[in-house]
Amino acid sequence: MSQKFPRFRRLRQEEGLRRLVQEVRLSPSQLVLPLFVREGVREREPIPSLPGHYHWSPEAVVEAAEEAYGLGIPAVLLFGLPAEKDEVGSGAYSREGVVQRALRELRKKVPGLILMADVCLCQYTTHGHCGLVRGGKIVNDPTLPLLAETALSLAEAGAHVVAPSDMMDGRVAVIREALDREGFEDVAILSYAAKYASAFYGPFREAAHSAPAFGDRRTYQMDPGNRREAMREIAQDLQEGADMILMKPAGPYLDVIREARERFDVPLGAYQVSGEYAMIQAAAEKGWLDREGAMWESLLGIIRAGADFIVTYFALEAAKKVR
Ligand code: PBG
Repeated sequence: MSQKFPRFRRLRQEEGLRRLVQEVRLSPSQLVLPLFVREGVREREPIPSLPGHYHWSPEAVVEAAEEAYGLGIPAVLLFGLPAEKDEVGSGAYSREGVVQRALRELRKKVPGLILMADVCLCQYTTHGHCGLVRGGKIVNDPTLPLLAETALSLAEAGAHVVAPSDMMDGRVAVIREALDREGFEDVAILSYAAKYASAFYGPFREAAHSAPAFGDRRTYQMDPGNRREAMREIAQDLQEGADMILMKPAGPYLDVIREARERFDVPLGAYQVSGEYAMIQAAAEKGWLDREGAMWESLLGIIRAGADFIVTYFALEAAKKVR
């Protein structure tokens, strides 16, 4: 019988064939593991809103970093929870801050691992906003020097990459300027260029104790309906000196990732955020989803959309199971 239509199924008959013709693949080299360091913790404490993740002491976090590096994960992204918060987020740029201390440990103990550090004030301010608050408003320009100072203190402590997630306008320029002025020309900037005001950050805010005490983040993070604006944010951050850009969240914004991939020839990361992880985790706990299958599909989808790398709470698990 002559063939009347293409036989797509022919190449799906064997596992080996399917592997051979797979268009998009995932390797541990594409994964970044987020890590939380917390002042006052003894070794580690589980984070209830992020099962499988911990608050680490600045010393014990080495253990988690070593595991990641051993699995072929090239980088970790550090977030900090200080002992005390204040109006101006002093803990973010303290030379003895919890992330700064962790960075010094990690530099010594896990050579080769790339250390990325979040630049933001929200975990360090009493009001929980990413910028300074004056008269009930989150003010842009007065926040910029503090972000530059934070980036500088992280670079001094050993960060290879600083990742501003605050969404203040003009921050990449002041951070680049401060780094260059102080001799950190080689420290790279991964800017959260397009970060949406998202409900999917919920579990992170519980984990990082960073929920805003009043209002929300919609005066600085982007509106979920906007794609063109994301392209303008990216273009601006690149012009100011960003080396790589990060899109966040990932899953609900795959079209934005795809468009960014087509328009900008720079390394592009995507952050599969806490709520994306939590959805899969919670559904799997209920027996409604196959956890591993959903994990793969969600990660492959992000790579297929055009991301070069993914910051994900599944990093360890995915790296272990990669074929
Ligand atoms: C802080 C920050 C947030 C996340 C990363 N950095 C929370 C927020 O903006 O409220 C979210 C990450 C996640 O949900 O996994 N600026």
